[in-house]
Amino acid sequence: MDLRKNPKSPRRTRAVKIDRLSNDRIASTDGAPKKIPTALTEKLSVLNQLGSFSMELLQLRDPEAIRTLVARTVGAVLGSENTHVFFSIEETTEEAVRSIFMLPNGASNTLVRNRVAGDAECAVAARGSTGVLAVIRASDKIDWSPFNLDDVSILEAIAVQLGLRLENIRLEGKLLRHQESSIQALAAAIEVKDRYTSGHTKRVGIYADALAQHLPISNSEKEKIRLAGVLHDIGKIGVPDRILLKPGSLTGDEWDEMRLHTEAGFDIVSRVLGLEEIAEILRHHHERWDGTGYPRGLRGEAIPLASRVIAIADTFDAIVTDRPYRAALSPAEAREIILLLAGTHFDPMVVTAFLEAFPRLEACVSAK
Ligand SMILES: [Fe+2]
Repeated sequence: MDLRKNPKSPRRTRAVKIDRLSNDRIASTDGAPKKIPTALTEKLSVLNQLGSFSMELLQLRDPEAIRTLVARTVGAVLGSENTHVFFSIEETTEEAVRSIFMLPNGASNTLVRNRVAGDAECAVAARGSTGVLAVIRASDKIDWSPFNLDDVSILEAIAVQLGLRLENIRLEGKLLRHQESSIQALAAAIEVKDRYTSGHTKRVGIYADALAQHLPISNSEKEKIRLAGVLHDIGKIGVPDRILLKPGSLTGDEWDEMRLHTEAGFDIVSRVLGLEEIAEILRHHHERWDGTGYPRGLRGEAIPLASRVIAIADTFDAIVTDRPYRAALSPAEAREIILLLAGTHFDPMVVTAFLEAFPRLEACVSAK
């Protein structure tokens, strides 16, 4: 019988609710506010801290930041003086972890060692699909009390989340490496076809990355910009050699065909799993801030930010590189041209990032 459906049942659990006005009081449905028992308050506090920990952990990739977050949370929740988090995201074998932390062979992935006078420790392993990815070791509680089963459960809950996060980061890294090799293969294809612009794709990737470092965007956005920079002209694979390699200026019809490389690049790259967003960036790298670009004539912020970055990186490289029809100009001359085009061809905000990145771009050109 489902007791919840029988209000007359004497065994029905009395409903309680948390009083939002006070963290340490509860109100029963039929009585005055009562003080929450200390043990319950402590558990609620632990749950709150674990909830915050989960949310924060999801945002982190940097090993040192993850280590600091775990150590801080364990210290706060368990009241331990020392917390160490040992892990290697790339490769950590279970055997290595055991030997490093002197976990005995055959022991479980939890170790609790309580001593009479302080010096106690509690260690748990964080697991991923390939085995132990990390060990969290807390030692020496501030009040010198021994670690108990509740402490172990809390530490294990943290370790489960840490293991999942490290596993995700590992898989994301693997996917990125696959994507990177796909990108390098595609970029090599256009380099082979267009000998006049040898090295152009790689340099645009470098310049776009340098600009992106001066924009208020996440690291993953910066990485997408770098990769899109490398791939930006992949669609030129579909442009006939008589046009692509033509030493003189192009006719109107030839320009029409050349302009198709943006949509062609989108078609090629959007077929690679995980590169859909990058495909969209390539599609719009010849749009202009004032709406006079192609293929769609997008204007202003309707153009993806990454495309606006690549537009400047692409132009900068074109200016400072020898072409069949003219000699290379200096980086300073390129800077003046790009400044003049701020607000018409280029996003003024990205031009500002370009100016900030200029010393690095200039150094890259000198090293070329
Ligand atoms: Fe292009």
